[in-house]
Amino acid sequence: MFDTSRLTRFLPPRMQSQIDAYFEAFEVLLSVKDPKVLGALGPSGVRGLLLHRGKQGTPTDMPATHAAHFDWTYPSDQPEMADLYRRAKLGQWNGDDLPWNTSVDPLDPEIPLIPEEFLSFEDIEELGIKLDALERRKLSYSMCAWMLSQFLHGEQGALFAAAQVTEAVQFFDGKLYGATQVMDEGRHVEVFNRYLDTKLEKLYQINDNLFVIIDSLMTDGRWDMKFLGMQIMVEGLALGAFSTLYKQTKEPLLKELLKMVIQDEARHVHYGVCALREHFTKHLTERERQEREDWAFEVALLMRNRFAAYEVYEEWFEGRMTRADWRNVVYRSKGMEDFRTVMFSRLVPNLREIGLLSPRIMPRYEEVGLMRYFGGLAADQLTAEKLLSDLH
Ligand SMILES: [Fe+2]
Ligand SMILES: [Fe+2]
Repeated sequence: MFDTSRLTRFLPPRMQSQIDAYFEAFEVLLSVKDPKVLGALGPSGVRGLLLHRGKQGTPTDMPATHAAHFDWTYPSDQPEMADLYRRAKLGQWNGDDLPWNTSVDPLDPEIPLIPEEFLSFEDIEELGIKLDALERRKLSYSMCAWMLSQFLHGEQGALFAAAQVTEAVQFFDGKLYGATQVMDEGRHVEVFNRYLDTKLEKLYQINDNLFVIIDSLMTDGRWDMKFLGMQIMVEGLALGAFSTLYKQTKEPLLKELLKMVIQDEARHVHYGVCALREHFTKHLTERERQEREDWAFEVALLMRNRFAAYEVYEEWFEGRMTRADWRNVVYRSKGMEDFRTVMFSRLVPNLREIGLLSPRIMPRYEEVGLMRYFGGLAADQLTAEKLLSDLH
């Protein structure tokens, strides 16, 4: 990416960061080549990246334009979804039953929330910033609270998207299943919020890029775009992130919480694959399919490159290193690399399975190093047990 620091180095730090953020936003928008995809993502990009609508301390209203689809004959129309519905009913759990009496000290070196090596302190030191042992633990605590805050914001998006998708989906069995997902996502909001509020006592604002993705799928009237955005892309991102943190954390309450959430999320992605496989491969024109294929690629890139924890940067390093330096530190960090690997090893096979990874788009995935995940198992072949056991 274009490094603005040489041009802006004589300006105050806050202004340097602003200019870097604008350049990054324009770069994101300019990198989208397909005009239809830009039409779908562009307005959300302006609201999220330039206007920072998620960060004004006031509630955000997003207009929804989808059609609620009723069927007064109540058909049994999708056995795989009916089976997911049965499993989801059996898989319900109560957030109150987690071991909330566990005492959590975010700075305890014996029970780290995330491993020391999640961020590379050497990379930070090379920029002339030396952190002592306590500062390192505090920075790790900030990173963990930042991640969990983004999970919480993502879960709020998932809750509303699941409700919209339940209205809009054409399968009746899908509506019944959808009702369980709404409950699941409500519970996820509850437990992440409770953990942040009572254990970490810290909440970060929503990351602008996450805002863009949520805004884009909430305001798109097409049901399959909501499904693709939420059930495949955001759920895939969530599963990657939860799994990485589950594997890495030593804090027992957080580990248990994540384990329960991961089991729900595995069903959610499975539902997305199930609903879209048939639709994308049989009911769309080739042009419509291509548009979705391009959209998914752009969003995958957004998810790969742009979760740079700038909210932590502003708190810790603004004025001490440039925003571009921070971006490099985060991008190269071991923790983020693990996260990307887990996320894409789940996401890419799902895109293949629903018909959005045709030979036409493969070279672009190849170019950004994502084709190596092509042969993995898609969500409909993965059980929650297998998912969890892979992480040990
Ligand atoms: Fe969730
Ligand atoms: Fe979910």
